[in-house]
Amino acid sequence: MSSSSAPGRPGNPDDLLKTVLAENQRTEPQRLREVLDALTRHLFAFARETQLSYHELELALQFLNEVGKATGPQKNEAILLADVLGLSTLVQLQDATRILEAGGTEPGLIGPFWRANHPSLPAGADIFSPDTPGTRVQLNIAIQDLQGRPIPGALVDVWQASPVGLYENQDPDQVDMNLRGRFTTDVSGQTHLRTVRPAGYPIPIDGPVGVLLAQQKRHPMRPAHIHFIVIAQGYRVLSTQIFDQIDAYIDSDVVFGALGSLIKQFEPHPTRAGELTLDVTLTLEPGPTLIPHPPLD
Ligand code: BEZ
Ligand code: FE
Repeated sequence: MSSSSAPGRPGNPDDLLKTVLAENQRTEPQRLREVLDALTRHLFAFARETQLSYHELELALQFLNEVGKATGPQKNEAILLADVLGLSTLVQLQDATRILEAGGTEPGLIGPFWRANHPSLPAGADIFSPDTPGTRVQLNIAIQDLQGRPIPGALVDVWQASPVGLYENQDPDQVDMNLRGRFTTDVSGQTHLRTVRPAGYPIPIDGPVGVLLAQQKRHPMRPAHIHFIVIAQGYRVLSTQIFDQIDAYIDSDVVFGALGSLIKQFEPHPTRAGELTLDVTLTLEPGPTLIPHPPLD
């Protein structure tokens, strides 16, 4: 009696891989098929390299289920997971090569704290409520194209953590939408606002990603930064962050996102003693304006 498998029935890992890849063949669109094929090959290689046991597979799936359960309108654990694994920054670095070669601004992580419907504010507005602590900062923003020409009418979303290291949606002591605003550039492609010097902060560690970080014996800190998303018709959407050079965690960002060209020095304000200024010029590439989905309501 033959011990070989019936035709079409996988009996060893190589045959199984071929069979699964064959099942991917009818997948549409084509890009999904490409990604699924690569995922299948790499998952197989991963499980074979590690000799993954069924028990370990169960633990991994349980972990993913916990990530899903920890995600809702107020928290996005899946983004956190991709960030602490370095995957989000890797994907961004792939884009950054093309963007930097063209002369555009280096992208930075969106992270899990961008909210839909930031309040639209006039140029010069404060984005902080009067009771917000911290050093006041004049933030001057210029939006330009690859040739250095101003882009008027660009929407600039700005958000940041407070000097206590919390975003307003994490902190009952801050008013709704504190330290968030949406500005529109004027005819010279510029806008400006007042904010406070941000503090570094720990990413949320009350979910499964926090358990993972503890197992890895890693700290959860991000260096202080201000987030920007710039949306202008006919240009690729730019999401980036500007980091405060003096932060103690500038070289050990838990999500690997504090990249060289995004690190800046806050300067003393020329006329207001004790205050600071920060000038930020963001350069957009022409292309499709695909607006990312805000992770929080
Ligand atoms: C943020 O910059 O808001 C962020 C990015 C990644 C993980 C957590 C927070
Ligand atoms: Fe942030």
